[in-house]
Amino acid sequence: MSERSKRSAAGAGLTRWQLLHEMGLPSQWRLREQPAVRRAREEALAMPAAIAHRSEETVARAPVAMVHERPSVPAAAPAADREQQIASLDWDQLRQSVADCRACGLCQARRQAVLGVGDVRADWLFIGEGPGAEEDARGEPFVGPAGKLLDAMLAAIDLRRGEDVYIANAVKCRPPGNRTPETAEMALCAPYLRRQIALIQPRLIVLLGRAAAHAVLGDVGSLASQRGKTFAFEAVGSSNAAATIPVVVSYHPAYLLRTLQDKSKAWEDLCRARALMRVAKAAASLPA
Ligand code: URA
Repeated sequence: MSERSKRSAAGAGLTRWQLLHEMGLPSQWRLREQPAVRRAREEALAMPAAIAHRSEETVARAPVAMVHERPSVPAAAPAADREQQIASLDWDQLRQSVADCRACGLCQARRQAVLGVGDVRADWLFIGEGPGAEEDARGEPFVGPAGKLLDAMLAAIDLRRGEDVYIANAVKCRPPGNRTPETAEMALCAPYLRRQIALIQPRLIVLLGRAAAHAVLGDVGSLASQRGKTFAFEAVGSSNAAATIPVVVSYHPAYLLRTLQDKSKAWEDLCRARALMRVAKAAASLPA
């Protein structure tokens, strides 16, 4: 086990075997031996070189252009002036704006808005659906049971919450009863997510579940049909320089807690994501 693996596993208080066990995976799983990793490497090598581009002035704007499919833009697009105003905020202003936001009905029942958590210059950005009861109470995403699984999934690929990882949600306020956020709610919250992406400039985005995929990619069909593909988030800078951030879609941890048999597919997705990250870093001449 690498030093980094040991540190991550120790950070979660678990050995790698325990982490894989936690994810419902047999101990013979080895990251480098998996065909999914090989496929991802091959596929990733075909990605545009722009993936490695991270200029300071890069600002994410339009929702996406896809490598393999073209998405529809989410309905109920927010007013252009609101979008523009949010696109100019720094982190402190963004936090305040989200805390004060009353753009949709989700503000009525929230205890607090939940912006996100982690390293604001992270290479990895994970996006979930929206805060649940515990997140609403504590002001941090993924701190309930689904969050514990997410932490184990991160540790299984040598990542740790807050260290080169940022975690956000499609909507910042808890939908009552933990229902799925509506399309209009996600569209009204989307400028905040786009601003987070622009400020973080991640090298890779992992969308957890159908709502997150819908919020970022538009309504492009079932989650099963989106898994295994690499989408591209088009980031446009003030200098009009375009940068492309690869996006992968996987299952939401809450779904995996209910559907144990799909944990192995989520593991494949993580392996693919890790291979894509390696390629992106290699293209930028950084250590993996
Ligand atoms: N589920 C999510 O999608 N996000 C959270 O923050 C918690 C649970």
